[in-house]
Amino acid sequence: MIPELSNPSVCMKDPERVKEILESMVKAGSNTVQVISDFDMTLTRFAHNGKRCPTCHNILDNSMLITEECKVKLKDLLNKYYPIEIDCTRSIAEKLPLMVEWWTQAHELLVKQDIRKDKLAIVVRQSEAMLREGYQLFFDHLHEHSIPLLIFSAGIGDVLEEVIRQAGVFHPNVKVFSNYMDFDECGVLKAFKGVLIHIYNKREGALLNTGHFQELRTRPNVVLMGDSLGDLTMADGVQDMENILKIGFLNDKVEERKQSYLDAYDIVLIKDETLVVPNAVLLYLT
Ligand code: C5P
Ligand code: MG
Repeated sequence: MIPELSNPSVCMKDPERVKEILESMVKAGSNTVQVISDFDMTLTRFAHNGKRCPTCHNILDNSMLITEECKVKLKDLLNKYYPIEIDCTRSIAEKLPLMVEWWTQAHELLVKQDIRKDKLAIVVRQSEAMLREGYQLFFDHLHEHSIPLLIFSAGIGDVLEEVIRQAGVFHPNVKVFSNYMDFDECGVLKAFKGVLIHIYNKREGALLNTGHFQELRTRPNVVLMGDSLGDLTMADGVQDMENILKIGFLNDKVEERKQSYLDAYDIVLIKDETLVVPNAVLLYLT
């Protein structure tokens, strides 16, 4: 029914179930659909020409706004904690406090760097951040069909917004839940606002934003996109959910993690740097 689901990057544990979900959503109509997507390594590329692409945090970490000494410390944190993030031999319960440590320490370092709000656009422009191929169609299509897109990210909201603004796709149907910077009256970073969002507390983040899901209560059909098993709880705030189609990008440690991704996501995209499959799904639904 969707030819792209036969692409070599696509794996599904239960293709019949995927078909059922899609049919049920088509029947309900596109005005009942909402999309909830992670940002880093889901809407953005994991790698390009064999080189890793930056996350929101990495855009700052690698920028001219950070001293060389601080860069070394941030890199040490990445080298220590990223392998833990993708380690499938440890449980989420075991990883959770370590992820809190990572985010907390990184944010403490960033806050000491006198980062100016008016420099963010420049560092994003100078960065190697890349949205996945097909992003234009993805964002434009959702906008044209008035389908709400919630980008739910444990990255940095100010940086994320700048990436999509510079790409020309920050349309009015897009809403962002993320970690936002708090600037003083001179426009210098002094803290991060609100409750920290890390990769394993998106459920709590969702439940803090009941107002958003209340507004979308006429849209009980959800397309969820993520690259981490932590992203699966992003839709936990959706009210009276009828169907959910979960699309997962498996970018790294493919062999070790494949089974757990197949068990958790309806459609798994293996080392696929494009939005071709999500776009085909969304075209089918509209
Ligand atoms: O948008 P998303 O929720 O995917 O953002 C989280 C990602 O940010 C994690 O996958 C993690 O690897 C990355 N991260 C980072 N530097 C930090 C903390 C998290 O690159 N200090
Ligand atoms: Mg991600």
